[in-house]
Amino acid sequence: MSAALSRRPADLVIFGGTGDLAMRKLIPALQHCDRDGLLAPQTRIIAMSRSGLTDADFRGKVHAELAERGADLRDLGRFLGRLHHVSIDVSGDGGDARGWARVRGLLAGHEQRDRVFYLASPPMTFGPFCRELRLAGLVTPSSRVVLEKPLGRNLESARRINDEVGEIFSESQTFRIDHYLGKETVQNLLVLRFANAFLEPIWNSLWIDHVQITVAETVGTPGRRGYYDHAGAMRDMVQNHLLQLLCLVAMEPPSRNDREAIRDEKVKVLESLRPISGTEADRFTVRGQYTEGIAGDRRVPGYLDEPGSTPPTRASRQVETFAAIRAEVKNWRWAGVPFYLRTGKRMPTRCSEIVVQFKDVPHSIFPGGSPNKLVLRLQPSEGIQMHIMAKEPGAGEVALRPVPLELSFGKAFGGRVPDAYERLLMDVLAGNPTLFMRRDEVEAAWRWIDPILATWEATGTPPEPYPAGVAGPPGARELLGRSGRTWHEELEEEVAL
Ligand code: BG6
Repeated sequence: MSAALSRRPADLVIFGGTGDLAMRKLIPALQHCDRDGLLAPQTRIIAMSRSGLTDADFRGKVHAELAERGADLRDLGRFLGRLHHVSIDVSGDGGDARGWARVRGLLAGHEQRDRVFYLASPPMTFGPFCRELRLAGLVTPSSRVVLEKPLGRNLESARRINDEVGEIFSESQTFRIDHYLGKETVQNLLVLRFANAFLEPIWNSLWIDHVQITVAETVGTPGRRGYYDHAGAMRDMVQNHLLQLLCLVAMEPPSRNDREAIRDEKVKVLESLRPISGTEADRFTVRGQYTEGIAGDRRVPGYLDEPGSTPPTRASRQVETFAAIRAEVKNWRWAGVPFYLRTGKRMPTRCSEIVVQFKDVPHSIFPGGSPNKLVLRLQPSEGIQMHIMAKEPGAGEVALRPVPLELSFGKAFGGRVPDAYERLLMDVLAGNPTLFMRRDEVEAAWRWIDPILATWEATGTPPEPYPAGVAGPPGARELLGRSGRTWHEELEEEVAL
């Protein structure tokens, strides 16, 4: 992260400034950036919400929240001094004149600074909020807007939102965030592929049997039903995080490490995805919803009985908390190589990883071998493992065992791995959009997702149940089993037995 780039004075205005995302991710990330000396002394953070808080109340809330998270509170006074809060209701027509007057008052005289409007709010608010910003006269030539995912519910709504935002902010001022792109290991995937020569000759269908991309979470959705019922795993995770990971694995080498060159290559991958619709959705996709079960050492409720939520509706019963898809990239490099995508809540372990499964040796002279596998672990314990076959020490028959060649980022580089939001917030402040999604990328992703969602909605069958603490419904295993393949961790378990 380049400190020099990001140390220009800026005003960062967060809409939804006391919400879950702001308090859980944005504020802690900004506090880290402040502690690391990455924010210019004059940089301010202005939270907007309907909560009625004063500046002092908001600073107190942030202090309590950071303390509860066990944050390092040294120099906290300096960070708290950057914070302001404006109570505003932008839901009514014509807006909240008093609230906007206060925002204008805070920003007046600072037109030369970089101005960033971070919309940490539901996507349908993006257009109206941008219009209000313009009406309030707050959009300067150096302003930027950050849009949180998911951008819309489908291609049509994504286009509408992009059009609405596009009336106020140009594409170069619009930063569509997908925090997975800010994760260290995700960026390392590009370095691994394009700064090392040995992988490229074997990175294709001649050598690779299939790819598995898994984002498994142990958390459920307590208190999030209002959002989650209308999102589900497809809109919440697959349309953005998992497809972005797929793009980075499958893309062609860009000619430059440049914002447009990398995004151009990603769009080509999305546009090469084989469409899945109609009866194929039954064969190539799986939906699940968790029921009561054991997570860690405690019993947890099912999705429909999560506490602190609104009562379940028909949408709650239909929504998927687990999704798995067999995708294919129809181009020369990847013809015939399945990409298995999988994500779920209340899985047995928290683990995000990409597994590249190579083909077996063409002719085996030893019994008991298994094909090589490259595992890129995004979290926890970021690192890369290459599983190779080795001979077990000892006399007698040659016995083989897969052993990992291991690179742990923690051990190799030491120090703290910055949270994705730290990196991305600094990139927004520095005006660098490389790790943000371009309009055509987001729309290409929806174009592929929409027919799957439409088929799911048309069939009306509820998702397959799976008990919390289990790696998805039986259909997930069958999705690979049909072609004689196995999920990575199931194979590990077999080897360990
Ligand atoms: C968010 C989703 O984008 O990513 C959440 O809305 C999910 O549902 C989260 O829990 C996972 O992020 P991470 O960084 O913890 O893997």
